[in-house]
This record gives sequence, structure tokens and C-alpha cells, in this order.
Amino acid sequence: MTTTSNPLTEMTAEIGFDSSGEVRPNESFRETTLPGFKQALTARRSIRVFDGDPVPEAVMQDCLRDAILAPSSSNLQPYELYWVRDPEKRAAVAVACLGQPAAMTAGDLVVIVARGDLWDVNRHKLLDAMTKHGTKPLTDALDDYYNRLVPWLRKTDALGVRNLMRRVLLAYRGRTEPMVRGPVNRGDHRVWAHTQSSLAAQTLMLSLSAHGYESCPIGGYDSVRIRRALDLPRPAEVTMVISAGRGKPEGLYGRRLRLPDGDLIKEV
Ligand SMILES: Cc1cc2nc3c(=O)[nH]c(=O)nc-3n(C[C@H](O)[C@H](O)[C@H](O)COP(=O)(O)O)c2cc1C
Repeated sequence: MTTTSNPLTEMTAEIGFDSSGEVRPNESFRETTLPGFKQALTARRSIRVFDGDPVPEAVMQDCLRDAILAPSSSNLQPYELYWVRDPEKRAAVAVACLGQPAAMTAGDLVVIVARGDLWDVNRHKLLDAMTKHGTKPLTDALDDYYNRLVPWLRKTDALGVRNLMRRVLLAYRGRTEPMVRGPVNRGDHRVWAHTQSSLAAQTLMLSLSAHGYESCPIGGYDSVRIRRALDLPRPAEVTMVISAGRGKPEGLYGRRLRLPDGDLIKEV
């Protein structure tokens, strides 16, 4: 690795940052916030038939802004949320969702797109914001993190040489100390981007629920046709489509079903 120290353990608050004005969870949340959160969480179900009316524009905008509050790796936010408003594009996306009723009857459709390729563009935007266009210094750890470690981890090349170098070096260093073990192949880079976009997708659905609207995550789609409908650039990858709106009673196909807690939650 190009860094001699570990910027993750040396990270401290940004220069001049005062956290006293930030909202943080506290004891009172259990009474004030938890009931509403639980309601929004449990009311979110995958709805397959909507009444077709669009979600009010202001609600949709608020939900989309909530969605991008989702956390992301290195805060690089490598995704885009395409709120499909053009009727022709909308129809094309719904058909590309294999004509599923959840898409065909939706009030709105949002295509969640992973943009792993934008890591460097977004890194520069973040640096510009953090340094107030270069007028404010970064801590050494942040400088090290964003200007050395992140590029070292995320850079790729067509022949896979950087991935190979990372694989060797991370494995070598990992023999004697805890070490991240990737990304070392194209799949790792793709998973990374889809992880971030999925968190935004889930946040969007929870926000829709909290606003009184329903949704369905759609993974059954023709990615080539969606790419064509939205004119997506080649490196963009569709993570899922979210349909949204007011669900019809018949749009709920069954009771919520989950595997037993013990199958999914492990206390170790
Ligand atoms: C990534 C993903 C893809 C999905 N794809 C579809 C889909 O193509 N069509 C559909 O009707 N439901 C789809 N679903 C919804 C799931 O079937 C649903 O979430 C699951 O049955 C649990 O039900 P619930 O969401 O009501 O709790 C998808 C869910 C996820 C997370």
C-alpha cells in the first residue's frame, strides 16, 4: 500500500468541525421516533398493483432526498437514482420490467443505477466540498485517505494489472495484520457499487412508507432495454427498479413471511 500509516485509525474530526448542532439519536427517540419508524418499517410491503396515480411531486422529491442520506463506502455515493418522468421512457421501463404489474400500474418508477465508474469524479467533488474549493485544509488523515488510500483501492485498468497488484499486496500484508482483501477483481468493484445503491434503494422505500406511499423493489427486468430507454452510459449498471404509488388492496399478495429469527440472526 502506498500509505505508511493507517488513515482509518488516525481519522479525526474535520478541521473546525463543531458537532454540537448535529441531530444525533438519543434516549428520547424511543418515545418520540421509534413508534413512527416501526410503523413505516412494518407497513412497507412489496405491492404489485397500484392505482396508477403519481406520487405528489413534492413527496417524491423528499423521498429521493431521503434516499441519498443512505451511508456509502468512503462517502463516494457511486450511484444515480433515475426518477422516470417522461411518459415514453416510463412505458419503456415498465415493459422492460417484463411487464410486471408492479411496474405497469405504478404511479412512479425510480431506476436505481450503480455507478462504480464515478468513484473518482465523486472523490474530486467531495474533496472540493470538504476543502471549500481548496480554501480550507484537510486533516492529514483525510488527505491520506482520499488522496492516496481511496485511489489505490478503487483504480482499475482494462488488463486487471491493478487488481492483481492489490491481490498480491493485500494478501502479503494480510499475513501479519488485519487487512481488507479487496477489491481484487471486476466483480468486487461491481458488488461495491451495487452495495451502495442498494442502501439508497431501501432508504427510498422506507421514506415512501413514512410518507404514506407504497413501493415494490423490482429485480426482474431486462437491463439492456432499461439502459436503452434511459440512454445510460456503458459503465452504469441497473441495481433495481423501485415502483411507487398508492397500492390497491389486491396489490398485497400475501402475509409477510420471514424465515425464523434464528436462521438469519446469529449471536456469536
Ligand atoms: C432486489 C429485489 C428484487 C425483487 N424483485 C422483484 C420482482 O421483480 N418482482 C416482484 O414482484 N417482487 C420483487 N421483489 C420483492 C420481493 O419478492 C419481496 O421483497 C419479498 O417477497 C418480501 O416481501 P415484502 O417486501 O412484502 O416484505 C424483489 C425484492 C428485492 C429486494
